[in-house]
Amino acid sequence: MPAHLGLGLAALGRPGYVTLNHASDLGHQYDPASMEAHAHEVLDAAYAAGIRYIDAARSYGRAEDFLASWLRKRDIQPGEITVASKWGYTYTAGWSTRATQHEVKDHSLTAFERQFRESIERLDGHLSLYQIHSVTAESKTLEDNALMDAIARLREKGIRAGLSVSGPGQDIAIRRAIEVRRDGERVFDSVQATWNLLERSAESALEDAHAAGVKVVVKEALANGRLTEANHEGNPVFSPRVARIRELARSRATTIEMLALGAALSRPWATIVLTGAATVDQIQSSVAATRLGYDDELERQLRSIILDPAEYWRARSSFAWN
Ligand SMILES: NC(=O)c1ccc[n+]([C@@H]2O[C@H](COP(=O)([O-])OP(=O)(O)OC[C@H]3O[C@@H](n4cnc5c(N)ncnc54)[C@H](OP(=O)(O)O)[C@@H]3O)[C@@H](O)[C@H]2O)c1
Repeated sequence: MPAHLGLGLAALGRPGYVTLNHASDLGHQYDPASMEAHAHEVLDAAYAAGIRYIDAARSYGRAEDFLASWLRKRDIQPGEITVASKWGYTYTAGWSTRATQHEVKDHSLTAFERQFRESIERLDGHLSLYQIHSVTAESKTLEDNALMDAIARLREKGIRAGLSVSGPGQDIAIRRAIEVRRDGERVFDSVQATWNLLERSAESALEDAHAAGVKVVVKEALANGRLTEANHEGNPVFSPRVARIRELARSRATTIEMLALGAALSRPWATIVLTGAATVDQIQSSVAATRLGYDDELERQLRSIILDPAEYWRARSSFAWN
């Protein structure tokens, strides 16, 4: 079955993010009421287009609050949409785009308990998947037995457990996560990982996860807005590759973003591909990507632009917040 599109709220819940044109996507309107109205417009467009999977996080500013007010306003019933959120980072930007630190990581049991209470305060009844935010190959998070016990108990509340992974060792973190068990059952039902035309190093671990029955959610399919027509950044690592994708997109009468999303949607192991669409137009072109004919010839041509994961994540860590 082809993957379904989901909507991620990283760009919609707070003034600052690492995509290229975040300020103009938000119309330079940062007051919470305007941002909430904008998030609701994008959610309405996503819902109208058939998107039924929404991804938030405690650290995405007020994303959970905006999602909760939208669910109430549209009278969406629990279970009608898969509502996923994450814990593990605390938002610290103080509603500014220029904070010295935008989020602080803490994967302790205390942080889990606090942030779970906060998420439930907002999304009770709707929250269906709760994920650890950004486990890396270096993280000791999955070795914390008391934390794993607490996460395994989410099931008693009807909430599935998941994790997102980041960094050049995503494959290592994924393989470890698949093995975590309590009472003979796998603790994590879902893994969210970065996969895009430049960074495919998690692919075989994601295949294994899928084969084991773990749902795979793809994030950053557009490399945080770098795999788009709007990217004129002049990054020495990304630019020649973006130019090559542009050429191939032209030859198929499509756009870079449609090709990049189409590639992710065509992965046989993917359950959901998140679009980080920050405007209604971006929702519409994301949905159009579900109809793109992604074929073996494109796959062969695009294999030549894959980056070494260490190089990709080094470039990723230099993306500026705006
Ligand atoms: N560690 C984690 O757990 C983690 C990390 C990152 C993301 N995520 C999740 O993954 C989601 C997606 O990631 P992302 O937003 O960082 O990256 P993305 O989906 O790769 O990029 C999204 C950005 O691309 C640009 N864009 C241009 N045309 C677009 C189109 N047709 N459709 C969608 N976007 C278009 C927009 O930025 P501009 O207009 O500014 O160019 C948009 O905000 C997030 O919302 C979040 O839910 C999770």
